[in-house]
Amino acid sequence: MSTDYQLVRLNNGICSVRSLADGETFHPVVGPVVEAEALYVKQLRLRERLQNHVGEFVIWDVGLGAAANGLTVLRATRDLACRIRLVSFDHTLAPLKFALQHAVDLGYFGGYENRLQEFIREHQVDFQDGAQTVNWEFHLGDFPAWLGSQKSGRVPAPPHAILFDAYSPARNPAMWTLPLFTDLFQRLDPARPCALTTYSRSTIIRTTLLLAGFYVGVGHATGLKEETTIAANTLELLTEPLDARWLERAFRSDSAEPLREPVYCRSPLASVTAERLRIHPQFAN
Ligand SMILES: C[S@@+](CC[C@H](N)C(=O)[O-])C[C@H]1O[C@@H](n2cnc3c(N)ncnc32)[C@H](O)[C@@H]1O
Repeated sequence: MSTDYQLVRLNNGICSVRSLADGETFHPVVGPVVEAEALYVKQLRLRERLQNHVGEFVIWDVGLGAAANGLTVLRATRDLACRIRLVSFDHTLAPLKFALQHAVDLGYFGGYENRLQEFIREHQVDFQDGAQTVNWEFHLGDFPAWLGSQKSGRVPAPPHAILFDAYSPARNPAMWTLPLFTDLFQRLDPARPCALTTYSRSTIIRTTLLLAGFYVGVGHATGLKEETTIAANTLELLTEPLDARWLERAFRSDSAEPLREPVYCRSPLASVTAERLRIHPQFAN
């Protein structure tokens, strides 16, 4: 039995997983399923996009953790005739193994337990679920290092959607640097519309995504968070792009400069960064 993870009961009675080493609860406010539905399924308009999509739809699940996001996406779309390639990344399977031991309390594994046992053993599992065809693969390792080593490759296929769920920037700065998001943007296929959502609404994360090449918009509220963030390689996937007023606030913020290295620090925008943001196609008239 792992001593690195713990089951916690949130105020609404729902259970979630907590990493003791990292001092963070995976879906801390409303719980795994409600958060994943709001932040990823609804906000990425996955059902609508899948219904209008022909061929394989590729989803990158960055920070597999206890698989709540991946499973919520699969469950929310299982009635659609679609082909999903779900590509999950993490540097450990320990939270998933822990969560499976507590599947009853967590309540979101129903029906997928055997498939996940195979996924853990083989690092991949293929199955048919109703009208849905699923190819789910796992990449074990340090995500920033993996991305940095994959610049020229096209394996796995570039995504149509990205669930970005690392620990917080203060705890897990290596997963929120400008080099990481620049590498990620370069792995996208410019001809394949792709949107990414994440729970953070911080100015630092938004300036980082903009400088990496994304268009960035305001994301829906989830639980107590009144806003989250959505980024995409095309403005068409954003309903509320950040506007000139947001940019003015970023210029005045004391915490807006992207992390260039995996060390968390808060500082105002450097003048050269501010200039790059000013000429970003999202803001240039
Ligand atoms: C908040 S948890 C993810 C929760 C998960 N999405 C779920 O639905 O249960 C963050 C995950 O990011 C992973 N992670 C943190 N740093 C990483 C790194 N450098 N490379 C790969 N994975 C990393 C952690 O191991 C952890 O499982």
